[in-house]
Order: sequence, then structure tokens, then C-alpha cells
Amino acid sequence: MEHEIADPVGTGRGRILITGAGGQLGRALQEAFAGEDVVALTRADWDVTLPPPELSPELVLHAAAWTDVDGAEADPQEAAAVNVGGTRHVAELGVPLVYYSTDYVFDGTKSEPYVESDPPSPLSAYGRTKLYGEGAAGEQAWTVRSSGIYAENGSNFVRAMLHLGRERGEVAVVANQRSSPTYAGHLAAATKELLDRPYGVWHLAAAGDCTWAEFAEAIFEEAGVDARVRRITAAELGRPAPRPAYSVLRSEKGAPELPHWRDGLRACLERLAG
Ligand SMILES: NC(=O)c1ccc[n+]([C@@H]2O[C@H](COP(=O)([O-])OP(=O)(O)OC[C@H]3O[C@@H](n4cnc5c(N)ncnc54)[C@H](OP(=O)(O)O)[C@@H]3O)[C@@H](O)[C@H]2O)c1
Repeated sequence: MEHEIADPVGTGRGRILITGAGGQLGRALQEAFAGEDVVALTRADWDVTLPPPELSPELVLHAAAWTDVDGAEADPQEAAAVNVGGTRHVAELGVPLVYYSTDYVFDGTKSEPYVESDPPSPLSAYGRTKLYGEGAAGEQAWTVRSSGIYAENGSNFVRAMLHLGRERGEVAVVANQRSSPTYAGHLAAATKELLDRPYGVWHLAAAGDCTWAEFAEAIFEEAGVDARVRRITAAELGRPAPRPAYSVLRSEKGAPELPHWRDGLRACLERLAG
């Protein structure tokens, strides 16, 4: 008789399924969990709006999501199909999961960091779908709220600023929204540490905080790009989805700590240069 080997590489964790494996975080998770028994599925492998494939993981790192914040305003149903329905499908696998949520579940009216027990009150369709997704993740879940995720791949603020800064020499950037932009590699490493903590909501974002304009200035400074930041308001930018003016996340329950956002930026730029 053949036996299923539940933990062939001896981590004590068994097989780990990563959804959204082609995204920024999905890729960073594959790196952080390299050497473990990982099955990484891109959208082409499993569109999470469809029922799960025949798989028996011991743990799911659910990084697939609709992340187009402005697009969700125009198409909230499709966004919900992915962020809520997709998460329900993941939970149907019946094993522990990590669900990634967002600082955009908060309305930004606080002036000090949001902690796990603060009541969510999303301003945008995206924020609402992510909040409902938290509910769909079920009881056996670590709900990880993070913020402004970027990496050396994918479409993100850091790569957009490098491109625009080099091309135009001046970039208009929002100066009245403050958060803690988080490097995907640091979030993936912190996820690994989190698995020793109880299920529940956890805030995992970079230490420190900045506005998007300050972040853009740091990007140009660290990357040696000769470009200037013109400070504008979110109203001037006029994007479809409202975003919180203040969404700095901190943990009140001893979440794994992430490096400062500037260290995350340096780590990302090193990878981009390498
Ligand atoms: N990015 C941020 O600033 C940010 C901030 C806070 C929290 N989060 C959360 O962090 C998590 C990871 O985000 P990320 O930054 O890695 O986003 P990302 O780079 O946009 O990756 C999301 C991945 O999900 C995939 N996906 C979309 N719809 C899918 C579907 N129906 N079935 C399967 N896969 C699907 C995308 O594939 P395609 O590219 O092919 O569509 C993409 O590879 C998400 O839960 C997000 O909500 C993100």
C-alpha cells in the first residue's frame, strides 16, 4: 500500500498551497517558504472564483486577490467574486489559511496607528470586499492586514516612481495620505513567524510611516534618480476610489515586527539593481 507523505521535508508543516503565486506577495512567499513542500498556483492554475482543485494542503497562504482599488469602484461585484467568493473557496479546503487584508478597511479618521481591535469602516468598494473576505476566511485563519505592498516585480508605487522620475524629472504625488508602505519580502518573512501565533487578525506592516510624497522622495534619493516631487492632494489627483488619509498599522498583540519602510525600500532597490 502506498502512503501519503504528509511532511516530506520535515518542517512540521506539511504541504503549503500558495494562491496568487504570480503576484508580488505570491512570489515573495515562494521565496520565503523555499525548501518547504510548496505548491504555488497562479491565476492560470486556479482562478479562485472557481471551486478548488483536488488538492490536500495542510496550510494555504492566500495571496490571490483583486487588487485594483480604483477598478473595484466600477466593478464591485467582480472584485467581491475574487476577494470574498475566492476566499470562501479557499476556506472550503478546510485547512488553516493566511488571508491577506488591507489598511483600506479603515476610514482614516484616527491620528494614531490603527491596532487590531479598532473597528473597520472601509471607504471604498475594494476595502469592503477585503473586509468581507476577512469574514469568509473563517475561524482557522490568520488575517494579516498590511499596507502599500511593493516588490521588485509587479506594478507598484516604487516601480512607477522610478519610471516616471527618470522619464519626466518631476512627479506629482499625494502628500495628504499617510501609511506604512511594506516590502513584500519582509511581509512574507513575517508571515512565516506569524504561523507560531494564534489565529485572528494581525497587523503586519513596515515600521515607521510616511506620506506617498515622502516615500517618492525617498525612492529618488535611495535610487539616485534626479527627480523632484510636486506635492498634491488626493482630491487633486481625483482617483475614483476614496482612500484613508491616515492608515498606519501597528500591532497591539505582539505581531512579528517588520523592518522600517526605508529598509524595505533599500532591499527592493537592491534587488532591482541586482
Ligand atoms: N498591493 C497592495 O498595496 C496591498 C496592500 C494591502 C494589502 N494587499 C493585499 O495583499 C495581497 C497580495 O497583494 P499583492 O500586492 O501581491 O497583489 P498583486 O501583485 O496584484 O497579486 C495578486 C495576484 O492575484 C491574482 N489574481 C487576481 N484575481 C485572481 C483570481 N480570480 N484567481 C486567482 N488569482 C487571481 C493576480 O493575477 P493576475 O495578475 O493574473 O490578475 C495576481 O497574481 C492581496 O490580498 C491584497 O489585497 C495588497
